[in-house]
Amino acid sequence: METSFVLTCAKAATLDPAVDDGYGLIEQAAIAVEDGTIVWLGAAVDLPPKFAGWSKRPFGDRLLTPALIDCHTHVVFGGNRAREFELRLQGASYEEIARAGGGIISTVKATRQASEDALLADALPRVDALIAEGVSVIEVKSGYGLDRETELKMLRVARRIGRVRPVRVLTTFLGAHAVPAGGDADAYIDDICIPTLRAAHAEGLVDAVDGFCEGIAFQTAQIARVFDVARELGLPVKLHAEQLSNLGGAKLAASYGALSVDHIEYLDESGVVALADAGTTAVILPGAFYTLHETQMPPLDLLRKHGVPMAVATDCNPGSAPLASLLLAMNMACTLFRMTPSEALAGVTRNAACALGLPDTGVIAVGKRADFAIWNVQHPAELAYRIGFNALEQRIFGGSL
Ligand code: NIG
Ligand code: FE
Repeated sequence: METSFVLTCAKAATLDPAVDDGYGLIEQAAIAVEDGTIVWLGAAVDLPPKFAGWSKRPFGDRLLTPALIDCHTHVVFGGNRAREFELRLQGASYEEIARAGGGIISTVKATRQASEDALLADALPRVDALIAEGVSVIEVKSGYGLDRETELKMLRVARRIGRVRPVRVLTTFLGAHAVPAGGDADAYIDDICIPTLRAAHAEGLVDAVDGFCEGIAFQTAQIARVFDVARELGLPVKLHAEQLSNLGGAKLAASYGALSVDHIEYLDESGVVALADAGTTAVILPGAFYTLHETQMPPLDLLRKHGVPMAVATDCNPGSAPLASLLLAMNMACTLFRMTPSEALAGVTRNAACALGLPDTGVIAVGKRADFAIWNVQHPAELAYRIGFNALEQRIFGGSL
């Protein structure tokens, strides 16, 4: 395998924010890669002579973008919730199902029963679907265990995904996802969630800490106790916030310098300002909005007004978003929320990297990882425009063709 080469293509969308076309386009581009890292990029006619002898990888009339990043998933879980889908279609709401012991709690039962190998086998087809769309980084959350053994099991499975597939996996501890059946929220946080976070961290299983701040889950004061421990352990935080109501979760997360707040349909302007001040990324999850048939839209105009970066992710999970297509999430973000196609592409590349605190990927620039997606399209707007169509021609992962 050659470790140095020069890629050429009709168009590269670098996602360089300094270029004001929204895509950072370079026509007739060349990109020099050495040992998995970008060492030069620009118009092919300007390629410096020192790269002239390197082997060429011509991609003709194709479009090249950074490889995609799915910055919010729950791809590790047992069972499925097709029965709840039927109930929702008969009129039951997500909250009613959750309060009746269905929802997250039913997936918890199935996840506790599944072996590590079975969870891995179930997760891989979902991961493969994402990789087939040019995804090179996947964030994977725990949160369907709600006990020490199962939370650790989920995180071990997440780490194994990164060993058996050519994809980087970032793990997020989501112990504060739901109150276990018959349990008390405060006791659960103090006696199970926090000790499990410490154990998972000690085993090297945690890259970030998340929670679900909502009436059917945890209050801000409970999330704050988890975040205090994350801070003590030196772990970044993120939060499922203002999805079904506004409890002030985004402000709380911002006060901890959160990497991201996710969902945020009910976020108000003061919350948006808090995100802007903290440099927190807003993760937009149109798959959950679509599946739950929600009507409250996330405040995209306010996010734009205050310059909050927006990411887009699948939220792939068995309840609110049985979605394993990041391209479809981009389309939904545009059609449902009026996001522009360039915002959607930035949302699954540059801003998704910010949502994960990953400095080495998400844009095509010198010094970044050679993670690319090569598409059989003429213009990057086509990526968000098509529905149910995958135009990926090839993915390059860490310089490997
Ligand atoms: O991101 N909001 C909370 N958690 C998931 C839903 C999980 C489930 O219903 O199983 C979400 O939408
Ligand atoms: Fe989620």
